[in-house]
Amino acid sequence: MVKAVVLGAAGGIGQPLSLLLKACPLVDDLALYDVVNTPGVAADLSHISSVAKITGYLPKDDGLKLALTGADIVVIPAGIPRKPGMTRDDLFKVNAGIVKGLVENIAEFAPKAFILVISNPVNSTVPIAAEVLKAAGVFDPKRLFGVTTLDVVRAETFTQEFSGVKNASDATVPVIGGHSGETIVPLFSKVSPNFQIPADRYDALVNRVQFGGDEVVKAKDGAGSATLSMAFAGFRFAEAVIKAAKGEKGIVEPTFVYLPGVAGGDEIAKATGLEFFSTPVELGPNGAEKAINILDGITEQEKKLLEACVKGLQGNIEKGVEFAKNSA
Ligand code: NAI
Repeated sequence: MVKAVVLGAAGGIGQPLSLLLKACPLVDDLALYDVVNTPGVAADLSHISSVAKITGYLPKDDGLKLALTGADIVVIPAGIPRKPGMTRDDLFKVNAGIVKGLVENIAEFAPKAFILVISNPVNSTVPIAAEVLKAAGVFDPKRLFGVTTLDVVRAETFTQEFSGVKNASDATVPVIGGHSGETIVPLFSKVSPNFQIPADRYDALVNRVQFGGDEVVKAKDGAGSATLSMAFAGFRFAEAVIKAAKGEKGIVEPTFVYLPGVAGGDEIAKATGLEFFSTPVELGPNGAEKAINILDGITEQEKKLLEACVKGLQGNIEKGVEFAKNSA
């Protein structure tokens, strides 16, 4: 039996993500929590003829506790999204507190659950979550993930004309590092099937993967950031975690993890000097079984991208850790 929980379920990402989880036959129980509108979203989704039993909770009447109790996997898209001109870091002030509060409750009511953080800035909210779990004495690095799948999904889509696959998801285009601007590092030298990006298109494609989110923010013109593509990506990652937990082998997805706590992570931490980093991770029954180092043999261009990534990411991580330690 799998119980999935969405925190921020009434939002732009939360609603379509909840729809995908409701339609997924691997989910038996789906609990939706938000500070508004969850009874309506849950009532609507409850009419869908699928496996999952669905419940909606608000903060009143111990809603968060009830939603989280018995959870196997908790996905967090709670928090404010970007408006034109904002970076993900601009969201820090509001979202840091939201994530901290929610993870404190997870530590108490669902300490063994897989935690998938979508709320931005992921580069800082995941370190915040780790600190909260550490302080509560329940941190299992194999069970905490920053969801960077949208960067991978974008990279697969934007390179499709070169990979030649009919279904863009059938190509593997690793994206490592963090989840904002220059901290996002696509590794086009490590793609499969083995295809080439023409030299005159390289810079533009890297830039599009790094700043693809801005295209959506701009097109939505003040009405938010990526929600539908994010729901697709968030579901893809959640489904991968659930399938691996159920014993399916060979599932690998890039995700932002605490390197020292995952097998193979020390090597990447040594190479980058970072504790948190997105890298392809082999998933298993206990979550992140192995962090796979794909840094060997990267090109000179990719080395430069990685340098810029490390610089930015270090500060984002420190900011998250400081916040978690210094805010009451
Ligand atoms: P939204 O504003 O449409 O929805 C957020 C929801 O969170 C709202 O329903 C709100 O009521 C709820 N919420 C606020 N405080 C809460 C709390 N304390 N507990 C529970 N729910 C709470 O925003 P949207 O577009 O769904 O984005 C959500 C987050 O996801 C943003 O931080 C955004 O930047 C991030 N995001 C992350 C991506 C990624 O690749 N990791 C991609 C796109 C967005």
